[in-house]
Amino acid sequence: MEFKIKSGDLARHKTSCLILGVFEKCKLSASAEVVDKASGGHLSDILQKGDMDGETGRTLLLYGVPGVSCERVLLVGCGKPEEFNRRSYRKALASAMTLLNDTHITAALCTLPELVPPGMDLYRTVRDAVTVCADNVYHYDQTKGEKKPPRSLLKSFDLWVAQEQDTETARQAARHGDAIAWGVTLAKDLSNLPGNICTPSYLAGRALELGRDYPQLKVDILEEKDLETLGMGALLSVSRGSRQPAKLILMEHRGGPEDAKPVVLVGKGLTFDAGGISIKPASDMDEMKFDMCGGASVFGAIRCALELELPLNLVGVVPASENLPDGDANKPGDIVTSMSGRTIEILNTDAEGRLILCDALTYCERFEPAVVLDMATLTGACAVALGKHPCGLFTQNEPLAAELLTAGEAAGDRAWRLPLWDDYQEEIDSNFADMANIGDSRWGGAITAACFLSRYTKKYPWAHLDIAGIAYLSGKKKGATGRPVSLLAEFILKRSGQLQ
Ligand code: BES
Ligand code: MN
Ligand code: ZN
Repeated sequence: MEFKIKSGDLARHKTSCLILGVFEKCKLSASAEVVDKASGGHLSDILQKGDMDGETGRTLLLYGVPGVSCERVLLVGCGKPEEFNRRSYRKALASAMTLLNDTHITAALCTLPELVPPGMDLYRTVRDAVTVCADNVYHYDQTKGEKKPPRSLLKSFDLWVAQEQDTETARQAARHGDAIAWGVTLAKDLSNLPGNICTPSYLAGRALELGRDYPQLKVDILEEKDLETLGMGALLSVSRGSRQPAKLILMEHRGGPEDAKPVVLVGKGLTFDAGGISIKPASDMDEMKFDMCGGASVFGAIRCALELELPLNLVGVVPASENLPDGDANKPGDIVTSMSGRTIEILNTDAEGRLILCDALTYCERFEPAVVLDMATLTGACAVALGKHPCGLFTQNEPLAAELLTAGEAAGDRAWRLPLWDDYQEEIDSNFADMANIGDSRWGGAITAACFLSRYTKKYPWAHLDIAGIAYLSGKKKGATGRPVSLLAEFILKRSGQLQ
């Protein structure tokens, strides 16, 4: 998909489809006003007939509008002007995309970014237009035998800016949006693959491929023998129950000054989580192929940084393993020794994410990180607490909490903070080891999981994102969302000085 910025005489613009916003009570957007005038009141006449009232998400496709050079005009409802917000803006964009996807339209010019909801600016509306468009044309067919042609034939989605002097801002927004979309798409593609294809070795192969596509990326794969040498007993204990060898995937983009401390992104890469001996119930277990979405978001964020050649040092760390029941698998009560030297009593083998992450987090110390963020589909409890809209954010670092909440808000990929108070720490005490891998009650499971990780992250600023509720959708729309790549992209864009 191509996203170009256009300005000039709107009525004279040649395109297959011109997208215009209309508010309730037939109130025309500025661009719709221009086209209405050029067409001798054609739009107003049609709206007078009452078929389209401007309700958010309603669409009306018009052919043969007089006085303009485009083949079609698509009117998109934006709701009540006084209630217009980012949600209605995105909904309007998404419904325009739904309509375009069902036509043969290959090129469109969208004027909706001129509608700037409160708290946004042109940079944000253009970037959202690009990411919403890409999100809606995403099409999974990696494992379809009969490859249907993609539903959308759209090849170019141009964005209109009224003021010539805004084109530079808009171009930057489109460039950022496009790079984010590439990252989101990679994350979705990896996450949607089934567990029998997307194994730890497969993920390692895709990292090496990324390194071939972007030679500035240094990729290193640590094998089980390397992990043994490092003493990663927690990570290895999880993969012991699987025939697929564990991998520790390392990706380094050294885009900043040599001595600048890196941002380190750690992602849970559990390619299938059956729970191990503490096996999960059968229903919806297929969704546990999505247990590597945190890892996929690291791939996505790194791809975005590479596309934009961001001037910062960025390291991706993805511990990858399966979690299966087996004669050699972890058993409840087993005690393993983590790379940090501390021992862990495994009271539930289904709390495996923290076991693979704790060793990866200890490994991160060697990078002398500016900050470490980990992303993990870590607990069902987090999804129960927050639902499917924000991810859970855990950190004791106040400035970092603010930075991440702001980044999520700005990117439209929100996080919500949950407490990480020491009050919870004693819940993971063990009579037989330095700690247990689950809390002593089922309450606050997302928090005790974060407490566990916090014990391995004392040497650098750190935050944890529990993405169990946001990484994928269930039911008819089952599939990965590519979240939180947008949040991470926003974070690294700001850290690399590319955005205020
Ligand atoms: N991968 C799961 C968490 C999960 C559950 C993600 C549902 C998405 C949807 C994780 O490994 C897990 O099994 N967590 C357990 C922890 C419990 C045993 C303390 C959970 O959430 O039930
Ligand atoms: Mn589990
Ligand atoms: Zn898991």
